[in-house]
Amino acid sequence: MTRAADAGRGRRAVVVGSGSEIAPHRVTNDMLARIMDTTDAWIRERSGVETRYFVEPGTATSDLGVAAARKALAHAGVAPEEIDLVVFATMTPDHYFPGCGSLLQAKLGIRTVPCFDLRQQCSGFLYGLQLVDAHVRAGLARTALLVGAEVHSGFMPWTDAQFEHMYGRSDTPPTPEEYAWNTRFRHLTVLFGDAGSAVVLKAEEDGRGLLDHELHADGTDYEKLHVPGTGFKHRPYTDPGQFARGEHIPVMDGRYVFKMATTHMVEVAQAVLGRNGLGAGDLRMVLMHQANKRINEYCQKALGLPDEKVVSNIERYGNTTAATIPLLWDEAARSGRMTAGDLVLMIAFGAGMNWGATLLRA
Ligand code: ACO
Repeated sequence: MTRAADAGRGRRAVVVGSGSEIAPHRVTNDMLARIMDTTDAWIRERSGVETRYFVEPGTATSDLGVAAARKALAHAGVAPEEIDLVVFATMTPDHYFPGCGSLLQAKLGIRTVPCFDLRQQCSGFLYGLQLVDAHVRAGLARTALLVGAEVHSGFMPWTDAQFEHMYGRSDTPPTPEEYAWNTRFRHLTVLFGDAGSAVVLKAEEDGRGLLDHELHADGTDYEKLHVPGTGFKHRPYTDPGQFARGEHIPVMDGRYVFKMATTHMVEVAQAVLGRNGLGAGDLRMVLMHQANKRINEYCQKALGLPDEKVVSNIERYGNTTAATIPLLWDEAARSGRMTAGDLVLMIAFGAGMNWGATLLRA
């Protein structure tokens, strides 16, 4: 029996509600150019990002996740005590340990149900969907909360004073040394924003829900996108030297990642469509991870998808890693662009390297 045929039987996890939390500080490309050598034209042309949002210091990933989850629960009409599985995907957790899953459980007053923490970066939400699907099919869960949230602003090499200058709340520009330091990381920092998003999934037998998954991981070239410092490869795992060298900030070979993303996102999408006997024409909507608009334009073309089937929000939010796909879902669902019964394909690629595609009926 093929996986797709097997997926046709019985209980499936259906997304019954979604919600998102956007950070308060809207930052344009021109505002970034106040603290480093970059331009609105470069960022728009190379990535498609126009604005992103950052939290106030003190707001953590679990806070964005909790706010998004509250909205998703309200949207679904589900009470926190009904949740019997929590999955929290993030690459920017509040603490080294524990993960954000149990923090969210406590803040929302969810029962002491299993809380999984996923570390699959931009593919975290798709990994979470497969995990929820497996629990629902196995009868281990009936009502799950899946959250993707990120506070990337902690990765930024900027001081509080530089954030203030960028926001236009201080007249003091960075020193030439600080400006040069910020510019060193510009290919990375201009891409990311903070956000949280969540979905509630329920076991249903009405033909809707998660249909098929194709997940992959390959750590061979993990160093092309990783955080070199602040890990237990080092003893102690963090120290001032690492900070002075900027090793707490991700290293990214953008061109390499770009090539891998376009190759693998197209591959997995074709694999899922092929084994389900589907073509682009059968899909109502495709939700692609939002790392770079050019990556998605390449995939759209390779998959033969018309514009109306592809949703994009990278212009407004930048890359919000694990929050990206549920944020796209939430916007599409709440705007009425996606409705119950629509066939939806999700595709993602990110650090690890991890990538995948998920097929579901909304
Ligand atoms: N502003 C102005 N100039 C810049 C900036 C900037 N923000 N960043 C880089 N440049 C310059 C470079 O210094 C370089 O200048 P040079 O030619 O004088 O040396 C030039 O622009 C070209 O730089 P590239 O890095 O080659 O630019 P590229 O077109 O590859 O775009 C980018 C870079 C946007 C990072 C792209 O490679 C990309 O999006 N890659 C994929 C990212 C991705 O998918 N990440 C995965 C998800 S993230 C995760 O999983 C955590």
